This record gives sequence, C-alpha cells and structure tokens, in this order.
Amino acid sequence: MDSISVGGRTATVDEPLRCAVFLSGSGSGMEALVHAQRNQTLLHQTVVVVANKTGIEGLERARRLGVPTLVVEQNHEGGSRSREEHEAEILSQMKEYNVELVVLAGYMRLLSPLFLSDWTNRVVNIHPSFLPHFPGAHAHREVLASQTTITGCTVHLVDEGMDTGTILAQRIVPVFKDDDESTLSARVKVEEHRLYPQVLTWIAEGRVHLTEGGVSIVGAEGPQVG
Ligand code: GRF
Repeated sequence: MDSISVGGRTATVDEPLRCAVFLSGSGSGMEALVHAQRNQTLLHQTVVVVANKTGIEGLERARRLGVPTLVVEQNHEGGSRSREEHEAEILSQMKEYNVELVVLAGYMRLLSPLFLSDWTNRVVNIHPSFLPHFPGAHAHREVLASQTTITGCTVHLVDEGMDTGTILAQRIVPVFKDDDESTLSARVKVEEHRLYPQVLTWIAEGRVHLTEGGVSIVGAEGPQVG
C-alpha cells in the first residue's frame, strides 16, 4: 500500500484547509477551534458549521462568531427521511463552501458508507475517552462506572463504525474519586480543545499519512499519546 495523505493537500496560510464542523450540541469544541484558528493563524479554517438540529447552543455560538451555519434536519416536510437523503442535502448545501475536511465535534449521527466513500480519509472525529476504551454516546458515564482512574480524548478518522476509525492522536486525563459526569467532561474538554486544533494542523501541513504499518505523522512516530 502506498502512503495516503490524510486531508488531501498541504495547506498554506493564504489557502488554509477548508473545514466544515458538524455538531449537534453545545459547540464548545467548535468555538475553541475557531478561536485557535483566528488567534494563532493556523493552516485550517472553519468555513461553515453544519447542524442536524435547530435551537442548539452550537448554532448560537457559531452565529456569535460570525461563522456561516447550515441546519439540515433529519425530519423533512413532516416525515423522516433516510440517512442517505439527509446527507445528500447536507452535501448539496455545503457545495458552495468548497469544504476539504469534515470535522465532527459532537455530531450525534453516524455517517453512511455512501458519504464516507466520497470523503475517504477526509472526515475526523473527537471522542471523549481513550479509545478503544469506552466508545459510544455515554463515555463519561461508563468511565465512572468502571472505576478506572484514567481516561482521555481521542482524535480519529471516521469509518462506518461507532468511534472505530484509525486513531491519530490521544491525550490522557485523570479521573478523580469525587468526579461526576459534568466535572469529568469539563476536564476532558480542556484537553480536547487543545488536541483538535493541533491534529488539524498536522493534517493541514500534510504530515499525517496512512501506511501499511498504520498511521505515521511526519516528525513524530505512531499515534500521538500525551
Ligand atoms: C465532546 O466531548 C466531544 O468529544 C464529543 O461530544 C462532545 C461535544 O461537546 N464527541 P461540545 O458540543 O463541543 O461542547
């Protein structure tokens, strides 16, 4: 297998990698990303925020930041439509933004094989646990129930499974005895908000490659754990 570059091109300050952030919730990760992109002149830019629900805080945050938003709901004209129909509309509305990378940040839907085949190695996700441990929608709850003392966050490529794609980078976060879901989530988010802009920068620099041996990040070795 030849080495495959994640993201597709090496970006420049004048032509940053054009990202669409998909979300379904509070959008704190999107906001942290946009702040990092603006304050540090990064090689990636959030050109649009895509939500699958109205009335969520993430949309308010995007509007306050002046980032264009698209809301494409699953239900349409009073009925539910298929995942593929929903995604087709997202892609059609997204066209004018010339998106190069889809960045999932609390997007609570699985993308279909059809979507992913068009966007191979160009969809990333952040998950609030140290994958492969505790995938799924209730990571913090399950971490606490397991009584482990260590959790983390993970940035990975998206495949058809639930949080199963190739891991690009991870951070470790301690779990304290008196944690509840809210304190743990807040501590993990601090690391998430640092890690995501960093990994997107590696991608935009053209440093992230998939090889037979797994993932290679030029200038580092293997998936990044810290
Ligand atoms: C984050 O913890 C992220 O890891 C997970 O969903 C949460 C989104 O939080 N996928 P927010 O909407 O960015 O505040």
